[in-house]
Amino acid sequence: MSRFLSAAFAGLKPYVPGEQPQDQQYIKLNTNESPYPPAPEVARLLSSTDAAVLRLYSDPESRELCREIADFYGVGVENVFVGNGSDEVLAFAFQAYGKGKPMAFPDITYGFYKVFAGLYDIKTRIVPLDDEFSIRASDYLQPGENVVIANPNAITGKKLPLAEVERILQAHPDDVVIVDEAYVDFGGVSAAALIGSYDNLLVVQTFSKSRQLAGARVGLALAQPGLIADLNTIKFSFNPYNVNRLSCMLAAAAIRDRDYFAECCAKIIADRAYTAQALQELGFEVLPSTANFLLARREGLAGERYYQALKERGILVRWFDEERIRDFVRITIGTHNEMLTMLDATREILQAEGV
Ligand SMILES: Cc1ncc(COP(=O)(O)O)c(C=O)c1O
Repeated sequence: MSRFLSAAFAGLKPYVPGEQPQDQQYIKLNTNESPYPPAPEVARLLSSTDAAVLRLYSDPESRELCREIADFYGVGVENVFVGNGSDEVLAFAFQAYGKGKPMAFPDITYGFYKVFAGLYDIKTRIVPLDDEFSIRASDYLQPGENVVIANPNAITGKKLPLAEVERILQAHPDDVVIVDEAYVDFGGVSAAALIGSYDNLLVVQTFSKSRQLAGARVGLALAQPGLIADLNTIKFSFNPYNVNRLSCMLAAAAIRDRDYFAECCAKIIADRAYTAQALQELGFEVLPSTANFLLARREGLAGERYYQALKERGILVRWFDEERIRDFVRITIGTHNEMLTMLDATREILQAEGV
């Protein structure tokens, strides 16, 4: 830290992203990216686009992309906002609604919520998940605070039924409820269908997981026009060209290809079931996941040791040095062959560790 940093940020604890090795040596099952390439039209566009288009700024309203998103979800363009990854969309939402009102969220969830609260000086109410690592809607019925939940929840993969999301929405007529649906396409139920009924609902999704575009950085929000206007106020006060030209074009192509999207999601869902069962047969406890990852632990094998032993064998998973989940590792669902390799390595580790 330099002596110039504003005192307000002296204690800020930034987000620590999962490892991103640049050498491609690992089977990468640590940051919930897709193991599949983007839709074929994305590659075609990328190779046929004249670099000269980058001379010009992107469309500040990302109109083509917003139209495609609106079309996919059956909503109006006035219900859509796009950002530079859903991290940016979430950051804008925290900025827009956080001042002067606490933000409630679970103790075990996406780590960025706490970081945004620190960055924007927002009070938090951190609510423990129940003993089964589930979000209890009844813990979020207190009006006078905004709420952010990941559904399915990050780290655990567990989903909250839509009726429970609706209970939270109804309890907060004068607060904003952010439903972060980064993993919804792998078996969750989206709250997008509820935006017409609740003016306090902000649904946030991403192109990073189910649409194979983590590196393009595109996220979106769906809501009534009032909330979308708020996000635009923040965006146009910060970076009007927040989604770059190439990413806008590629994301629009990705969302047009509905068959490829469905096919990739189906493969992940099938391999998730296969991997969960195989891990259970090896004595693991595996939380029921509707995301593209599994949170698993094995008695007699510390989470950190398992993570390290997999890494030594060229497989990266994620271990969180956090209370309550220290025993677990989170394994992103890769291709079927990657899962087979991971399971073979796990058998070897269990044998080597004598468990
Ligand atoms: C729950 C959740 N929300 C949001 C994000 C951010 O995704 P992105 O910024 O790539 O859209 C992630 C990333 O892993 C996540 O797990």
